[in-house]
Amino acid sequence: MSLVVENLSIELDGRRVVTDVSFDVADGARVGLIGESGSGKSLTALAVLGLLPEGAAVSGSIRWNGTELIGRHDRELAALRGAEIGIVFQEPQTALNPLRTVGRQIAEPLRIHSRASRRDALARAQADADRVRLPEGTLRRYPHQLSGGQRQRVAIAMALSARPRMLIADEPTTALDVTIQAEILDLLGHLVDDDGMSLLFITHDLAVLSQVATHAVVLEHGRVVETGAVGDLLTAPASEVTRGLLRDATATVWRPEGDA
Ligand SMILES: Nc1ncnc2c1ncn2[C@@H]1O[C@H](COP(=O)(O)OP(=O)(O)O)[C@@H](O)[C@H]1O
Ligand SMILES: [Mg+2]
Repeated sequence: MSLVVENLSIELDGRRVVTDVSFDVADGARVGLIGESGSGKSLTALAVLGLLPEGAAVSGSIRWNGTELIGRHDRELAALRGAEIGIVFQEPQTALNPLRTVGRQIAEPLRIHSRASRRDALARAQADADRVRLPEGTLRRYPHQLSGGQRQRVAIAMALSARPRMLIADEPTTALDVTIQAEILDLLGHLVDDDGMSLLFITHDLAVLSQVATHAVVLEHGRVVETGAVGDLLTAPASEVTRGLLRDATATVWRPEGDA
């Protein structure tokens, strides 16, 4: 189950926002997409998911498991999302319905993608809630009754409930405190390992990236400026962009315990 992106270009309102981006995420790999704000990270992820804004012009190739996704019908892409590719965004609120209990929301993708019965789906939802270490009783609660970190755990449980083969996480910890951020990153790492999923992790923070990804693609103004092992980016950044990201990295997350 590999993702291969080749020469992806995206135009919005006649403006080129992503140019000739190529990278791949092999089965079980953990790849980071990193760059300053506005460098085209989210649009690249949205292109993979078939969620670009209406009117976007896309060229190049995005192959999932050998199948071309560009030009595929909305319905087919919707089936892929959730079932084979899970998604977590920066703001868990966007994924959560304020009027529904957490339990129903975690159970919903299962009902849609695997046609599980309501009862089975709820039992699985409890197992998923435990897996993301939500406290007892969370399934009966509503999103506004949870902390930001708990809401992101719910969003992660939803993304993983249908057991996708790849997870795309777009700045999933950016809105959280540093301590909670570290917990969520740790959780994501474990979940990805347990399920043998591949991970495409988007961040502007090299410190965060180094916690979850082994390889990275660095974007600037919608173009790839550097790719490589995360360890190499940290010790021998080849581009000015990566050197800048290194200076801005959250030192508290990056350094192991002790000197935060
Ligand atoms: N819906 C949109 N319509 C027009 N331009 C957009 C839209 N979304 C993003 N852009 C522009 O595309 C560029 C890349 O955006 P994005 O992929 O969101 O960056 P990143 O996720 O790296 O911060 C930015 O210049 C942004 O202003
Ligand atoms: Mg973004």
